[in-house]
Amino acid sequence: MTGATAKREAFGTRIGFLLAAAGSAVGLGNMWRFPYQASEGGGAAFVLVYIVLTLILGIPLMLAEFSIGRRGQLAPIGSLRKLGGRAWGPLGYLFVAVGVLILAYYSVIAGWTVRYGVEAVFTGFAASSADHFAAVASGGDAVAFHVAFMAATVLIVVGGVKGGIERASLLLMPMLFVLVVGLALWAATLEGAGAGYLVYLKPELDAVMNPDVWRAAASQAFFSLSLGMGGMLTFASYLKRDQNLPESATVVAFTDFGVAFVAGLLVFPVIYSFGLQDAVSASTIGALFIAVPSAFQAMGDWGRVVGLFFFVVLAVGAITSAISLLEVVTASVMDEFRWSRRKAALSTGTVITLLGIVPAMNTDALGLMDKIAGEFLLLAGGLVLALFAAWRLPDEVREELLAGASPFWQRQVPRILAVLRYVVPPIVAIVLLFSLRETVAAVAAFFSG
Ligand code: TRP
Repeated sequence: MTGATAKREAFGTRIGFLLAAAGSAVGLGNMWRFPYQASEGGGAAFVLVYIVLTLILGIPLMLAEFSIGRRGQLAPIGSLRKLGGRAWGPLGYLFVAVGVLILAYYSVIAGWTVRYGVEAVFTGFAASSADHFAAVASGGDAVAFHVAFMAATVLIVVGGVKGGIERASLLLMPMLFVLVVGLALWAATLEGAGAGYLVYLKPELDAVMNPDVWRAAASQAFFSLSLGMGGMLTFASYLKRDQNLPESATVVAFTDFGVAFVAGLLVFPVIYSFGLQDAVSASTIGALFIAVPSAFQAMGDWGRVVGLFFFVVLAVGAITSAISLLEVVTASVMDEFRWSRRKAALSTGTVITLLGIVPAMNTDALGLMDKIAGEFLLLAGGLVLALFAAWRLPDEVREELLAGASPFWQRQVPRILAVLRYVVPPIVAIVLLFSLRETVAAVAAFFSG
């Protein structure tokens, strides 16, 4: 049996765990992907579907991860093997592989945000933003900023659970909340903000009946809540039994939704008050990085100041998410090989940095990696995890959900388990099939050029 539990690290405070989990959840997915998806998926209708899926899929699945992690006291490979038996170990390896893949391209996008932040300070934003984005999104510059971002991520993870991850979250997350709300309030003062809100939140209610909107919202929820690859599981493996898991999952999920929603209230007024809607529909990946900087550019010096804050928010959200992705991989190597944290973080960080050169050189490869790992494999992982928690380990999961929970939350436990057994697996299975079709099409399109 690998992975002694004797000296396992732990979070120092309950709020530290909450902010670290919220830090994992809140990231580029909220500020870059959510607003775009909402506007594409029927505006208010998408938001509605998203809230429903957060409640019936997101929170129960996060609780499955929390329970397994706290019970196992090991990273995914070790916890699954310890609680489920040898045969479950390979699922842990899949999780680690997904973490490697996601972080490799996530760090490239994060590198773009750092680059734009640096531009705000030193040169100002470029006037022809689409050309500029094309020039910096892939190639040598993209590689350089990706490497720098990975180095910062490794540095925090080397600091450990308490001295690195918890400390960074306690410092960075409050700063992110204040900045994102402040920016949204500022955006409300822009001329034409109303038109932006309307596009973001137009109530196209027939979209509620569109299965593709549900697929998009479910994938978005998985990615945004960091579910389906053992990220939340790994953080929970550093918990003691006094943490109220159901309450924590609810707080994290609503914080994540709140930031995503407010990010939309920020991005759309900015884009629409400068008439940049065409840039948004032109490119999914580039939407934010083309439209938003052109708006800041058009605002002159004031735009540089606001733009700096905007890209600081993105980079801060990205790094607290990146540390959770790296922590899954690092903790797995520590548990399995009994390597020191430093050695594990440096070596896994190096592998991921090297792999990230591919998406840093080729934006199409980045998009493909997002489809395969950031969408399809997360759904697959989440499905198996729900089945594992609710059907293989129902008693253990029940005990974990009860331990540390207040009476109110203890009364919800039977309901949570029932949802995890009967509601989550069929819905995720259906969404997974839709996603499989999309993923196969994306792979085919990529290789046919
Ligand atoms: N949730 C983060 C975001 O929205 C990304 C992320 C961090 C993630 N850890 C994860 C996604 C684990 C999937 C799995 O940007």
